[in-house]
Amino acid sequence: MQITIAKTEQAASALAGKVVNEAVRKNPFIVLGLATGSTPLGLYAEMIKAHQKGLDFSHVRSFNLDEYYGITGTHPQSYRKFMNDNLFKHINIDLKNTRVPDGMAKDVDAFCRQYEADMKAVGGVDIQVLGIGSDGHIGFNEPGSSLVSRTRKVTLAPSTIKDNTRFFKKESDVPRFAISMGIGTVMEAKQCILLAFGVNKAKAVKGMIEGGISQFCPASALQMHPNTLVFLDEAAASELELKDYYKWCQKAK
Ligand code: PGA
Repeated sequence: MQITIAKTEQAASALAGKVVNEAVRKNPFIVLGLATGSTPLGLYAEMIKAHQKGLDFSHVRSFNLDEYYGITGTHPQSYRKFMNDNLFKHINIDLKNTRVPDGMAKDVDAFCRQYEADMKAVGGVDIQVLGIGSDGHIGFNEPGSSLVSRTRKVTLAPSTIKDNTRFFKKESDVPRFAISMGIGTVMEAKQCILLAFGVNKAKAVKGMIEGGISQFCPASALQMHPNTLVFLDEAAASELELKDYYKWCQKAK
């Protein structure tokens, strides 16, 4: 893991944006794994800015990590709508090349198998963008998820339902299930870029970087990933024991 601690969320997002935009410039046919939530919005803003300055996304393919189960892609809180509104509409990506799991899939197992097969067919994900839940989840892989799990239907943890209630009218409106890439799926991405901001994420970030590798903190599996970049703000990094060392390494580079 390569850890970058920036003063602010904006500064960290700008650094992550540089990496993604540079990769798109180098490989216009890149396959991006994308994430939703508040965390990647700054990164997406950087991609939109780069597009406004001429960066071409017309050949880029994307696969989103997850989608709530039981809602359509037009539901105001669906991750398909989130992606369209917060990124896809603002860059020249071909919507046909963007994939978000189908929250209404009738045969969920068959859908998940096909989603994995489709990722493989385009050569796998080159860069997987990730946030982290306050409970250490990546995608909707909650604590207790197998570290070799694949795309499947999952049950949201009560803490995630609570965290996500802010996007809905009330807690009981938050879907209880989702379709999510598995941890094994994420681990196959050639590079992962994980962003985390705010003190609410500090404990999960500590578990991910400095805890033992365990299904209790699904993001800790990334310690075994050969090419993961972590971008944090000071608040999310506040519980790291080796924070000064990570900053030292950052400076040395
Ligand atoms: P957030 O969610 O970006 O809205 O904090 C992150 C996550 O749950 O993975």
